Amino acid sequence: MCGIVGFSGNQSAREKTGSGKKVRDILIEGLYSLEYRGYDSAGIAVTDEKGKITVVKSSGRVEELDHMTEKNEKMNSGICGIAHTRWATHGRPTTANAHPHSSEKVTIVHNGIIDNYVDLKKMLEGDGYVFLSETDTETVCHLIDREYKKTSDPIEAIRNSLDYLKGSYALAIMFNDRPGEIWATRKDNPLIVAKGEDGCYLASDIPALLHHTRDIYRPADGEILCLNGEKVVLFDREGREKNFEFSHIDWNVNAADKEGFPHFMLKEIFEEPDAVRRCVSHRIGEDGLPDFSVDGIPDEMWNSFDSIQIISCGSATHAGYVGRYLIEALADVPVTVNTASEYRYMPPAFVGKTLAIAISQSGETADTLAALRKAKEKGCTSAGIINVFGSAIARESDYVMYTNAGPEIAVATTKGYTTQVAVLSLIACKLALARGRMTKEEALSYCDSLKNAVPDAIGNITERRDEIKKAAMRISKQHDVYFIGRGPDYYAGIECSLKLKEISYIHSEAYAAGELKHGTLALIEKDTPVIALCTDGMYYEKMNGNIREVRARDCYLLLVHSPSFPHPEEFSDDRFELPEVPAVFTPIVSVVFAQLLAYETAVMLGCDVDHPRNLAKSVTVE
Ligand code: F6R
Repeated sequence: MCGIVGFSGNQSAREKTGSGKKVRDILIEGLYSLEYRGYDSAGIAVTDEKGKITVVKSSGRVEELDHMTEKNEKMNSGICGIAHTRWATHGRPTTANAHPHSSEKVTIVHNGIIDNYVDLKKMLEGDGYVFLSETDTETVCHLIDREYKKTSDPIEAIRNSLDYLKGSYALAIMFNDRPGEIWATRKDNPLIVAKGEDGCYLASDIPALLHHTRDIYRPADGEILCLNGEKVVLFDREGREKNFEFSHIDWNVNAADKEGFPHFMLKEIFEEPDAVRRCVSHRIGEDGLPDFSVDGIPDEMWNSFDSIQIISCGSATHAGYVGRYLIEALADVPVTVNTASEYRYMPPAFVGKTLAIAISQSGETADTLAALRKAKEKGCTSAGIINVFGSAIARESDYVMYTNAGPEIAVATTKGYTTQVAVLSLIACKLALARGRMTKEEALSYCDSLKNAVPDAIGNITERRDEIKKAAMRISKQHDVYFIGRGPDYYAGIECSLKLKEISYIHSEAYAAGELKHGTLALIEKDTPVIALCTDGMYYEKMNGNIREVRARDCYLLLVHSPSFPHPEEFSDDRFELPEVPAVFTPIVSVVFAQLLAYETAVMLGCDVDHPRNLAKSVTVE
């Protein structure tokens, strides 16, 4: 989704140290670090000391904008600026539609969608404003300009404009008679401000700031900020100045760099053993049992509801399926898994007291946020399983369990997913203990495996890239791939299938193995790859039958199995043996095989692994 960067230089500090980077460079570097969010055009606006604002836009990549501006004298001598990567919603990805947009006194960049922009446009055209783009953003720009001309007061102009706006937004605004200042506000869209030695920063996500400062503040909906180089001043929705504190984030500066890996996705897959270990160890008490007191969740909470509703999107929903399987199998608590975009209109029936669990790596997914609000409206207690500290969903949940995976930059989630499943696995154990469904001994062994055997098994898979490359060679020549499995293997298969299709663009589907013959078997023909996930011996007989069904149609069968799952020679064309872990944990492990398979396949096909076409990280529009 769109990305915002802003910087207002502290001129006196910069002159004193003589070390200040150019405003243009800071903004362009910020845009590079937000590229992972997905975008199709980019732009930058820089102000000089007299308030003269220079805007340059490109309908291409940030690199093009970088070249277009590197020798631009006005860009290089600026004192303050805002920049943007646009992910087209209203209007095609053209230069005219790229941000920043300008009116007579105002230049802005915007993330989000203004729902009532058609009415606003009519109103503003009536006032004589002429529109140069097809965007909803330009209405906001002219609206603020109109209000500013009435009051000459930026706070009043912004406050009055917000009264008109319906929808979601993060806005960074420059007024051409207030050089050196950036004004900002937000509603249901991420925005972070920060203060460094060189000046004040603004961005839609942490990676854009990591090289400058790790002291950040996330404004609440409706708050208004002024960054004036030396300091950040905060106002509430009524325009009253307000105190606030920056919070320190402990993400490593290198976390937003590839550190020698060719792609962020590969780097993030290699980070999974540590990420899972960290996420789990953090929540295993000295007694070796799950302990969520680090998240501020009292033990009584786990006995305070009758059912769970999971709400999430994409891979987070796939993590939710695994979570449902574990919670129902181990703790016998009923769980529904709900696609957030559907939930807000049609939540399932509520069974007794309900805990709503919102799962989101970014913590900013608009559909998940809306579903969380719906769940709260219906009286649910809410808990978030979130990676990004202080994000919107984290702030609106009654309880938050951070996955602590560090920044995830590749659009396709990897460590985000596995750490979500790790937290859900601990929740299942905690509930099973709280409800007397698991003995202490069983829980101790379960937690020990999750903390040690599972990260080790993930590490083992990352060391076997050559084997996986061989499988990828075969897959990369096909048009369709099917993943089949039963129980947890089916749920893992759904995520495996998404990974493959989203980054390699090879069509792929996942089926409960027993379901294939109810229609989809018609698509299996000679050499169609079928990847059978077989990790729990309990399913051997039935999987055997399902595998023979597809083998009888001459498919290419790749068996991904645990060592103990019977695997006679004639069973498969090729096989990949997973390291042994208890069957309940195989979805965390087998998915890593599929992440690497998808990665190697995409690389062989020359796909843009970290930025798959049409996709965006952190989907902040509904
Ligand atoms: C797929 C993927 C997406 C996200 C989904 C939810 O690889 O990354 O399906 O899982 O957009 O995102 P979050 O977890 O940020 O809410």
